[in-house]
Amino acid sequence: MSTHSLQVLVNADEIRRRVAELAGQIERDHPEGPPYLIAVLKGACFFLADLARAIRRPVRLDFIGISSYGSSTSSSGRFTMTKELDSPIEEADVVLVEDIIDTGATLEYLIEYLRQYKPRSLRVAALLDKPGRRTRPVAADYVGFAIPDRFVVGYGLDLAEDYRSLPDICVLDH
Ligand code: IMP
Ligand code: MG
Repeated sequence: MSTHSLQVLVNADEIRRRVAELAGQIERDHPEGPPYLIAVLKGACFFLADLARAIRRPVRLDFIGISSYGSSTSSSGRFTMTKELDSPIEEADVVLVEDIIDTGATLEYLIEYLRQYKPRSLRVAALLDKPGRRTRPVAADYVGFAIPDRFVVGYGLDLAEDYRSLPDICVLDH
């Protein structure tokens, strides 16, 4: 484990309150049947777990994995799926659950990937958004927090696999 200093940017209470608000929005937008929450491994794992339990009606869950080649703090735009969907999502109302949208390259790729399976609807829930970093024309339907262009860890987000289990979202100071 390396020796960065951590500053809390969004604390666990603030996360819990905001996740409850997003859950309410997702409930209202899906009156017809159970939304299919598809989380991107591994960064969205805690967000998915809390979001799914805050939605007070049945949901379905699945996970996908993606890896990008490039540096550890940004993605290069060359992707491969490391875990595919378990079940068909044709005609399902899908909510893709992501940890953070940075350049948008990952989200752009995942939207294309999911669309080929012909869901009835496809929305995106992102815990965090760095709008200032966007290079691709993608946006989330549900955003937890828009944050400045700082590298953050915790509540699922990592730096080289460290810090994922922190309960708060923290800025790393090198
Ligand atoms: P994008 O493809 O540039 O939008 O990058 C999205 C991915 O980069 C996220 O799913 C994260 O894995 C990673 N990422 C981007 N910014 C951060 C950060 O501040 N902390 C941790 N991971 C990040
Ligand atoms: Mg990620």
